[in-house]
Amino acid sequence: MPTPADLFEAAAAARARSYSPYSRFKVGAAIRAEDGTVHAGCNVENAAYPQGQCAEATAIGAMVMAGAKRIVEIAVVGGDAGSGLLCTPCGGCRQRIREFAGPDTPIHVFDAGGAGRSFTLGELLPHSFGPDNLGF
Ligand code: THU
Repeated sequence: MPTPADLFEAAAAARARSYSPYSRFKVGAAIRAEDGTVHAGCNVENAAYPQGQCAEATAIGAMVMAGAKRIVEIAVVGGDAGSGLLCTPCGGCRQRIREFAGPDTPIHVFDAGGAGRSFTLGELLPHSFGPDNLGF
């Protein structure tokens, strides 16, 4: 699957805004919505640790605020360049993405140097529960 440069750049720029004084693990995410618009977000931590928010959640909020409701593809950038560790979305964020995406939706994960790989949502969250289960 080709790795879209514009989404990487948007996610990397969002990562630079990460508020992560506690973990010092900066993450950025960028969503391409079905209308072609791109929406980015970073992780926002909190002194009350559980109240921290992942980059994907921030990006989803930005997308919804812009009036879009369908994710075409999403990129996540986290981890140092050359770390070799992929910052795949956490379990909670896989479910958050699921609300606005289907099993074939690409999720591109990169380290800060641009190395990475692509998955589908169905690979990362198989047999998922979604709006269709509730008749939506
Ligand atoms: N984090 C994200 O923003 N997205 C992910 O997919 C994984 C983890 C953040 C949460 C926390 O601020 C930091 O990375 C370390 O867990």
